Amino acid sequence: MSIDYPQFRKLEGAPNLYIIEGPKHVTEWQPMGDSKWVVHQHYASDYPRYQWVSELLQGDDPVRFLNVDTWKRLLNERSVASADEIPGRTPYPTNQGLWRDNAPVGALTTFGAEARASCIFEVKSDADVRWALQDRDELPLMVLGGGSNVLMCQDWAGRMLHMNILGIQKVTDDGNAVEVVVGAGESWHAWVMHALECGWNGLENLALIPGSVGASPMQNIGAYGVEVKDRFAWLEAIHRDTGALERFEPKRCAFGYRDSVFKQSEKEKWVIVRVAFSLERTAPLNTQYGVIQSELQSRGWDRGTTHRQVAEVVMAIRQSKLPDPREIGNAGSFFKNPVVSKEVLARIQRNHPEVVYYPAPDGGVKLAAGWLIDRAGWKGHQRGACGVHDQQALVLVNYGGATGAEIWALAHEIMEDIVDKYGVQLVPEVNQVGL
Ligand code: EPU
Repeated sequence: MSIDYPQFRKLEGAPNLYIIEGPKHVTEWQPMGDSKWVVHQHYASDYPRYQWVSELLQGDDPVRFLNVDTWKRLLNERSVASADEIPGRTPYPTNQGLWRDNAPVGALTTFGAEARASCIFEVKSDADVRWALQDRDELPLMVLGGGSNVLMCQDWAGRMLHMNILGIQKVTDDGNAVEVVVGAGESWHAWVMHALECGWNGLENLALIPGSVGASPMQNIGAYGVEVKDRFAWLEAIHRDTGALERFEPKRCAFGYRDSVFKQSEKEKWVIVRVAFSLERTAPLNTQYGVIQSELQSRGWDRGTTHRQVAEVVMAIRQSKLPDPREIGNAGSFFKNPVVSKEVLARIQRNHPEVVYYPAPDGGVKLAAGWLIDRAGWKGHQRGACGVHDQQALVLVNYGGATGAEIWALAHEIMEDIVDKYGVQLVPEVNQVGL
C-alpha cells in the first residue's frame, strides 16, 4: 500500500521547507539566520489557509515538489532553533524496522489474558504510524493503547501497533482557560494527575481510570457525572488508507454514552495520535454524586472543596470498589449499562420494584447492569481462574492464568442469564479480539 501523505515541498527561491501532513495540516521549516530553522505547525481552520494548503499540495508556483531524500538533505543543512513540540509531530519514523515477531501481548492488556501478535511495533511519532501502515501491509492491523478495554480471546494474526506517542504541551492560556495537547500514548491517570498539579482542572472525576489518552475519546470514558466529551477540545488522527492527518472537533466525534464515531461509522479507519483538552483553573466542581458527597463529608472536605480533594475522593471510591489491574486482571466495567424503554422498565419493575435506573436521552432509561448481574446471583462468582468481582458485579476478573476464551465464556453465560431473568440484552463495553 502506498499512502497519499505526507508530501514534501520547498519554496522556490527561499529555503522554506514544508511537509503536507493532511488536507488541512502543514508543518513548515522557516529559516532563521544562516544555520537555524524555526518550525511552525499550521492547521487550516479557515478558508484562506485551507486554500493555501491546496496550493501547496498542487505545487502551484512558487512551490516545488521534493522527494523525501532531497527534502531530508535540505533539512539537515540547518538545525532546529525552536521546535514546536506538539506530541508526535516528528518528521521521521523514530522506530523504523523494529517489528517484534510472534510477540506476547497479554501483559500489555490490563486483563492479562495471554495471547500473541504476529508482530508488534511501538509507535512514538506520526511518522512511525505512517511507516507501519505501509510495512507488512498484507497483514491486518490492530491498534493497542493502554490495553484496558480489550480482551484477547485468541492470538492476533496480524500487525499490532502499540501506541507510545508521548508529550504534553499547553497551546493556549488566557489566565484561566487552557488548551493542552496530549500524546495518545500517555497514561490517562498520569495525565489527569499532571493536569491537577498544573492547576488545569476539570478532569478530576476521571482520576484512576486505566488506559491511555488516545483511547479515552473512542469510548468517551466517564465516571461520577463527568465524561471526556465535557473537556474534549479536538483530536488528531491519521487515516489508515491515505496517511492523512485530520482533526476531529467534538461534533465530528459524535460522542454518546461510552460511544463515539470511532466505534461506529469510522471504526478501524483512523489511528488517534493526540488529544487536546479544554481545562480551567476555576472549573466548576462536579460533586453531585451521592458517594462523592458522603466521602467528602466524612473527610471534613465538604466546604471549600478543592479539585485535588475531589480527585482523592474519586480515587478512594474506585480503590474500594474496583480491583487494581496491577493486582487482579480486569478491564473495568465489562458491560455497558443497557438503555431500555420505559415499557421494558415497567415490566422489570413488576417483579423487581427496586431495580436501579437513571434517565437516559430520548426518553429511555439506563439500567444499572451491575445491579442486574448482582441480583442474578453472579457477584463474587468464581470459575477456574476467572470470575465476577465481589465488590462490583459489572467487573469480570482474571485471578491469574485465565484465557480470554474462558473469560468470554463466562461473559456469554452472564449475558444469557440476564436475558432469561430480565429480558434485557447486555452489550460488552470491552472489545473482544478474535471473536
Ligand atoms: N450495583 C449493585 N451491585 C453491583 C454494582 C452496582 O447493586 O455489584 C448498583 C449500585 O448499588 C448502584 C448502581 O448499581 O445503585 C450503579 O453502580 P455504580 O455507581 O457503581 O456505577 P455503575 O453504573 O455500575 C458506572 C460506570 C463506571 C463508573 C461508575 C461511576 C459504566 C458501564 N460504568 O458504573 O465506569 O466508574 O459508573 O460513575 O457506565 C468503567 O467504565 O470501566 C467504569 C468503571
